[in-house]
Amino acid sequence: MLSRRSFVAAGASGIAMLGASRRGLAQGIVTRRPISALRANDPDLVAMRDAVAAMKDLPRSDPRNWIRFADVHRNFCPHANWYFLPWHRAYIAAFESIVRELAGRPDFALPYWDWSVERRLPTAFASGTPASNPLNHVRPGMTRGDELPDDMVGGDVVARILASPDFEAFGSTRPRRQRGADRRWQRRPGTRTELEFNPHDGVHTTVGGDMAQPDLASRDPVFFMHHANVDRLWAIWNRRGNPNAAERNWLDFRFDRQFPNPDGSWWNVSVEELEAPEALGYRYDGEVLGSRGRAADSFAADPVLAAPQAPAAAPSGGGREVLLEYRRMPDDTLPRVVRDLRRITTPTGRTFYMAAGENDRAGARGRPVSVSVPFGRPLAEVVQRTSVTRQRIWAVIRDIEPPSDNTTRVRVFVNCGDLSPATPVTDASYVTTLSFFAGGHAGHESGQENETGRHRHHWLRHHAHDGAPAQADDRAGAPMGTCACVDLGPALSRMSRTQPLVGDRIVLQLVPVGGRGAAASSAVTPRRVEVAII
Ligand code: C2O
Repeated sequence: MLSRRSFVAAGASGIAMLGASRRGLAQGIVTRRPISALRANDPDLVAMRDAVAAMKDLPRSDPRNWIRFADVHRNFCPHANWYFLPWHRAYIAAFESIVRELAGRPDFALPYWDWSVERRLPTAFASGTPASNPLNHVRPGMTRGDELPDDMVGGDVVARILASPDFEAFGSTRPRRQRGADRRWQRRPGTRTELEFNPHDGVHTTVGGDMAQPDLASRDPVFFMHHANVDRLWAIWNRRGNPNAAERNWLDFRFDRQFPNPDGSWWNVSVEELEAPEALGYRYDGEVLGSRGRAADSFAADPVLAAPQAPAAAPSGGGREVLLEYRRMPDDTLPRVVRDLRRITTPTGRTFYMAAGENDRAGARGRPVSVSVPFGRPLAEVVQRTSVTRQRIWAVIRDIEPPSDNTTRVRVFVNCGDLSPATPVTDASYVTTLSFFAGGHAGHESGQENETGRHRHHWLRHHAHDGAPAQADDRAGAPMGTCACVDLGPALSRMSRTQPLVGDRIVLQLVPVGGRGAAASSAVTPRRVEVAII
């Protein structure tokens, strides 16, 4: 390890402003391993403990200082849009580089917390106390014995995520009305998809404390283990033959002067340079089934690796292109109120169907809220047809005013005939569960001071009720409430297997659960639900 004096000097000796490639890159490719497989004295764990302790000791003038490095997340992290995955890939790689340098271990590989298998806080991060163990941290939401629930990190969740048909369904969608790849788009909100709104956001809010707050999350060392697993799911999804976004607004986007190299220079990097882990010098163990590094039966126990390898049910024919065109269509060009299933023609002449419903009631714990989306024709016919055409039925829940208590989770059901607050997630009509980690965070331009949650709710009260002007979020970068996109297909086809679907509409039902505060703090208001059949 470097002596403390030498790395203080290195940090102070000039912050090179020129771009640099990622420093501390080991020769060859290192393998990131699951934290649960590492013994307490594993060299990678020792290196991480030493380096985190050293970062906490460095002066604030050094970009590797723990708080200063955590502030990189506060100042730049994109959530709820398609930069979420590449940005966090770079951030944790920058951390990995700093650990390599401070621990003097050029072959250090960042471990990952495979929460699907290891439901408890990793022992190395939970043992001792924050004072005795540099990897420990105050985590009011989760004690050592607590386990993350199935509907957040279980095999069904992972299987749904890995079945996402395109990059934006997998890793959250482009910012609304994006034009161009300049920096101001980095934190404009798009639509969260399940990887982000369920396991990603859910682990943050469940761990609690700093982890539950976007401004502070990476002050908790377990942040890096959590994000390594999110990153790993991305690598696995790619490995299964799913391509990333191919548009210049994504590929050309640059994260310049955001990530420090260990020597104090900037690691300036574009999204395109972040697509392949190998190009960044690492891979994940077990990324390819049957590779060495794990016993065969641990593959069977891992919901990721055991999840069906079946192709992510790619949309048939031009389905993928229609999906892309739908994503490209500015939402203000789509009909605002559609009382029946309407055929929409894209700019290139492709077609899809959509309907929408609006709502201004709040649901809260013990009091679900439903949004009705009329189709004007029998639902059974529509669902039957989509199973023939292999189309999917997407619901975009727009402008959700999230619960003020972010430990609340919101279960989503569709057309459940006897829904109650107690309806279990094993019901055929269960779709998914939403968590809200960064509901009030996305939508701010990089480098801007973040508004407080209270300010955000104030804004929503004033602007969402009177039919927010279509351009409001463009004008001010102001949040319009968070959006989430869910696939209704699996639930609807499960339901139609037991009895014919009745009615002429989709009814999306939101059930807030959990949460520590009074019922009012669990209130959630979905303003609009758009159903698109693509
Ligand atoms: Cu930018 Cu999981 O946080």
